Amino acid sequence: MKSQEEYLRRLKKWLRDTEDVPLEEMADFFAKRLSDYEEHMSVWEKSYRLVAESVPDECRKILDLGCGTGLELDHIWKKHPDVEVAGVDLCRDMLDKLLEKHPDKHFTAVCEDYFQYDFGNKQWDAVISFESLHHFLPERKKELYQKIYRSIKEDGVFILGDYIACCDEEEELLRDVYMRRRKQSDIPKNRFVHFDIPLTMEHETSLLQNAGFVIENIIDEDAAVIICRKPVGAVRN
Ligand SMILES: C[S@@+](CC[C@H](N)C(=O)[O-])C[C@H]1O[C@@H](n2cnc3c(N)ncnc32)[C@H](O)[C@@H]1O
Repeated sequence: MKSQEEYLRRLKKWLRDTEDVPLEEMADFFAKRLSDYEEHMSVWEKSYRLVAESVPDECRKILDLGCGTGLELDHIWKKHPDVEVAGVDLCRDMLDKLLEKHPDKHFTAVCEDYFQYDFGNKQWDAVISFESLHHFLPERKKELYQKIYRSIKEDGVFILGDYIACCDEEEELLRDVYMRRRKQSDIPKNRFVHFDIPLTMEHETSLLQNAGFVIENIIDEDAAVIICRKPVGAVRN
C-alpha cells in the first residue's frame, strides 16, 4: 500500500512539473526519440519474452498493432522464424528501423492508423499489441477490440501487453489531466498526441470480454500481458 501511495505521489509531482510542456503529436514523439528508443524500452525485456512465449506454436499469421521498431517481434521471430507478420504503425521512422533490423523476414509494414486500417475478417492466428493502446480512451478501444475480435480466426488469440493503471485514482487522474490539456491546447478530436491514459486491469479486461474474448491468462508484470482467446463456435463473429 505504501509503495502505491508513493507511486501516486511521484506521478502527481511529475504531472505538475510537466504541466506546461506541450503535448506532442504521436508519430513525431516517437520519431524524435528513435535514437535511444530501444534502450529506453529495454526495461520491458521480460514482458517482451512473455509475449513471445504466449504466441501459440501453430501460429502462422500475426497482426501487430503499434509494432514500432519490432521489439516484441525480435523475440517472436526467434521462436517462430517463419511466421508472417503485418505490423501497423503511424510512425514511418519506427517501421523503417524494424525493416532495417529484419530485412529477411516475412513482414509487411503498414504505415497507418490502426483505428482506420481494415484488419479483415478471420484473417489472423494472433493479433498482438505491446505498449501502444494505453494512449487511447476506452470509447475508442471498445470499437478497436470489436474490430480485432472479428479479424481473428476462431480459437485465435489477442495478446495485449500494456501499461495498466494501479488503481481507479491513477486511471482517473491521468484521464482528467489528458482531457484538460487537450482542451487547453485546443487539440482537435481526431489528432493523436502522446500522453499515457492506462486503464485499470478491471476496466481493461471488461472491455475485452465485452468484445467477446475469453481471458485465458493475465501475467501481471510491470507491463501486464493479457492473453485473450476468440472461442470456437462463438455466436458473435
Ligand atoms: C511505445 S511504442 C511501442 C512499440 C512496440 N510495440 C514496442 O513495444 O517497442 C507505441 C507505438 O504505437 C504507435 N501508435 C500509436 N498510436 C497508433 C495508432 N493509432 N495507429 C498505429 N500506430 C500507433 C506509435 O507510433 C509507436 O510506434
